[in-house]
Amino acid sequence: MTITMVPMRWWHIDQAVGIDAELFGSTAWTAAQFWSELARANRYYIVLVKPDSGQQVLGYAGIAMTAPDADVQTIAVASAIQDQGWGRKLIARLVDIAHQGGCRRLMLEVRDDNTAALHLYTQQGFISIARRSSYYGPGADAIIMERDVRDGRE
Ligand SMILES: CC(C)(COP(=O)(O)OP(=O)(O)OC[C@H]1O[C@@H](n2cnc3c(N)ncnc32)[C@H](O)[C@@H]1OP(=O)(O)O)[C@@H](O)C(=O)NCCC(=O)NCCS
Repeated sequence: MTITMVPMRWWHIDQAVGIDAELFGSTAWTAAQFWSELARANRYYIVLVKPDSGQQVLGYAGIAMTAPDADVQTIAVASAIQDQGWGRKLIARLVDIAHQGGCRRLMLEVRDDNTAALHLYTQQGFISIARRSSYYGPGADAIIMERDVRDGRE
């Protein structure tokens, strides 16, 4: 299956909203939120598409860059292609983008019960630096993680 990674554009939004609803439920982004993110100057979003299938969207990720820091805004891989290394590729690309944008570190928040995401981030060199109690609602803590990106993805 051929999947390519390209900059996210407005025509990817409707499909991204569908994936977000499936993966994030009540906290999923609306189309308006994606439009707003793409319109902002310091944002950079990438999307996984399947060119031989009508540009089907299968994942996406984005960062906000305010050097020296960059923040992961979202990352999602459609359930059909999870656990095949695409999350790792998206994170590696975000690290490159932050590095090329002159940032020193890439930060993110993750729910403390999100095993898949915690595994991915730790494997990709992120370290936990703080915990925000009930950040996602009562009893749902956030772990704040960071990774030095001065040397790029390596
Ligand atoms: C988190 C997410 C982006 C990971 O994407 P992915 O493409 O499935 O991840 P990868 O295939 O690149 O896997 C990276 C590592 O995580 C591991 N992993 C993947 N899914 C896992 C799971 N459910 N439980 C434990 N580890 C898991 C993989 O085994 C791999 O580790 P390994 O190389 O040591 O074997 C994806 O699961 C997802 O979109 N989840 C829903 C949305 C979400 O939670 N986003 C993050 C919000 S902070």
